[in-house]
Amino acid sequence: HSTPKTTIVIFGATGDLAKRKLFPSIFNLYQAGKLSEEFAVVGLARREWSNFTLREVVNESISSANDDLIEKFCKHFYYLPFDVTRNDSYINLDKLLKEVEDVYGIPGNRIFYMSTSPEFFGTIASNLKAHQLTETKGWTRLIIEKPFGRDAASAEQLNNEISQAFSEDEIYRIDHYLGKDMVQNIEVIRFANSIFEPLWNNHYISNVQITLSETLGVEDRGGYYDTSGAMRDMVQNHVLQLVSLLAMDPPIRLTPEEVRHEKIKVLRALKPVATDNASEYFVRGQYIPGIMNDQEVPGYRSEESVSPKSITETFVAGKLQIENHRWTGVPFYIRTGKRLESKTTKVIIEFKNMPLNLYFNGEKDTSNLLSINIQPVEGITLLLNGKKEGTSGEAVPVQLDYNNKNDDISSTPEAYERLIYNCLLGDATNFAHSDEVLLSWKYVDPILKAWQSDKVEIAEYESGTMGPKASDDLLAKDGNHWWPVN
Ligand code: BG6
Repeated sequence: HSTPKTTIVIFGATGDLAKRKLFPSIFNLYQAGKLSEEFAVVGLARREWSNFTLREVVNESISSANDDLIEKFCKHFYYLPFDVTRNDSYINLDKLLKEVEDVYGIPGNRIFYMSTSPEFFGTIASNLKAHQLTETKGWTRLIIEKPFGRDAASAEQLNNEISQAFSEDEIYRIDHYLGKDMVQNIEVIRFANSIFEPLWNNHYISNVQITLSETLGVEDRGGYYDTSGAMRDMVQNHVLQLVSLLAMDPPIRLTPEEVRHEKIKVLRALKPVATDNASEYFVRGQYIPGIMNDQEVPGYRSEESVSPKSITETFVAGKLQIENHRWTGVPFYIRTGKRLESKTTKVIIEFKNMPLNLYFNGEKDTSNLLSINIQPVEGITLLLNGKKEGTSGEAVPVQLDYNNKNDDISSTPEAYERLIYNCLLGDATNFAHSDEVLLSWKYVDPILKAWQSDKVEIAEYESGTMGPKASDDLLAKDGNHWWPVN
């Protein structure tokens, strides 16, 4: 499909995200012939840049040997210095958009991409409405970056603000994990294979383990991260999205409404964790110095812009329970953190053991495992048991792999490419619905509340490990253990 003629308006065009992800993604779509020739990108930010400066930056952000194509591409970019609080900024934007739409014959289709600091999201939306920038002959859509609020109350308020200018089906809330190929593949693996779907429930599955581990520390984002922490940064969004994709019932149709409806049902079935007994289900940790790649790395509290007394968590492990017919009794264990041993995103489904262990001589770890490898390795691995060669009659694990290693460790540009493309086509399936966002916040809020005080222990973990011991203990209580992910 080539996409409809559209103008993409980027708020925060001088920022890091635009340069690292948005420009390269739009270029890739262009290069692949997926973008209509009649498109324009209008970049907005406070800085006094010109079209020329923006085009230079766009050019630098792209890696391609095709100079002619890059030059042609960059000509579609326009820049307007912009103050989100000033009326004249919106008046100028209105003028520029009309001019640009004239040049390319764009029938008023506009995507407004909010990639500024989240405190401006509301102001921008109400101003867009006030200056009638969303009233065109074509369609208008809003793409909004995370964080979407910092708790249920602020997310609800943000929803109210943006819904002045956009209806729910015009709002595309980014969760870039939903743009990853293997995340999108979860649905296909589950619902296109009759050998998995019948087993996908509490009759056959013992537990589910979701790991999103990172090796990086907080880098230069200490200021943001110290007020956020791993729960808000990763669990509320990416992790809960994975949980709902793994646990949802088959949708009756592949439409955004049907798919998101099924995901929402999972989030509604999550058993709430009360503030008082959060420690029973959730563990928080913070990294201390350690050796990674033969080099000593600093602890979290000595990172730039982080309080030396910070109790912000850089690691979370938790046990989630989904109370419905399919899942009651099956723990979903999750963990995520910075400065861990490896950069890995992986789901492991542990199937129940056979009732009688005939072949393994007392050994316990004989379960069938299905790993859904999301990154950097992409694919699936299935661990079965087979007969050991020879005469002993014993069994050994046999591993079936269907994987390809993605050299580009973080496949985020690709994820953004898919998501922007989906939005251009008006497909919101891989974006978070407001109900998903609110339900996720409602789930994590009581736990965050427990962590506000330093009474709940924050477990230290050495950089380069897989997190604090408390994370292992969490599974051990149930007689389970984390399966290795590397
Ligand atoms: C972002 C978080 O949403 O996801 C970052 O804000 C994190 O802290 C990143 O590093 C991880 O994304 P990916 O695609 O590299 O796994």
